[in-house]
Amino acid sequence: MAKPNISDQVTRERWEQAQNWERDFWVETQRKRSKYGKNLIWKVLSKLGMVSRYRGDDWNEWWKEQFDGYRFLPERIHNVLEVGCGPYTNVRLMLDRCRFDHLVLSDPLIRTYVKFKLTFVSEMYQQAACALDDHPLEELPFASDNFDLVVMINVLDHVQDAHQCMKNLIRVTRPGGYLIIGQDLTNEEDLKAHHGSEGEVGHPITLDKEWFDPYLKEGFEPVLNKFLTREQVRGGGKFHYGMLLFAGRKR
Ligand SMILES: C[S@@+](CC[C@H](N)C(=O)[O-])C[C@H]1O[C@@H](n2cnc3c(N)ncnc32)[C@H](O)[C@@H]1O
Repeated sequence: MAKPNISDQVTRERWEQAQNWERDFWVETQRKRSKYGKNLIWKVLSKLGMVSRYRGDDWNEWWKEQFDGYRFLPERIHNVLEVGCGPYTNVRLMLDRCRFDHLVLSDPLIRTYVKFKLTFVSEMYQQAACALDDHPLEELPFASDNFDLVVMINVLDHVQDAHQCMKNLIRVTRPGGYLIIGQDLTNEEDLKAHHGSEGEVGHPITLDKEWFDPYLKEGFEPVLNKFLTREQVRGGGKFHYGMLLFAGRKR
């Protein structure tokens, strides 16, 4: 019998509703950020070394800390893909220890995100230092066994078909390549809190830890495999009993 806390597939219409919510959220966030010439001030402060080069962070610094600063990654990586990369990306925080030969930033909303000012996405794009892809992960157009590093952090609760996404993610990772996944987890109790909450519309998919086992247990050699408890997850654990942090090499 299907577990009540698992919703791993929704209709196209439900997914589009979530994506509209997501787009509105980030466009509004950027609008507020750039009010009163704040981008100009940021540029000056950044030149003086007082703030970072890029503006905006969606818990990416926090994820980096949880993933031990991505210290397990090699210094040079040939083909890199971040899916559901969002406006700010997680790969940008790997570049203090890794060099990428080729980078693909993939997100169905990438055409919106690339217009945001002072971000890693817009700078990489302007410098022709990355390729952008706007397919949903369910329709990822890349060849199998192609990427040496694939990153998917805080994405799977936003998609239409979580199984199809996992299949594509694993398919495009080359044997020996690294896969990094970070994901909030939901149980029955969380589902009740989630229902009717402000964020419900933007998070159509709910998964628990066991849901990942058939994908990760056999197919990957773990290099980091952590479970964070409710007390340890970001945002105080109101909606999530735990969190999966997985990095492994494809067998
Ligand atoms: C909460 S944001 C996280 C962004 C980024 N991963 C981060 O950690 O900063 C979730 C992202 O997933 C993207 N997304 C939603 N459905 C998707 C799908 N089917 N395939 C790939 N990405 C998707 C959204 O457009 C959004 O940018």
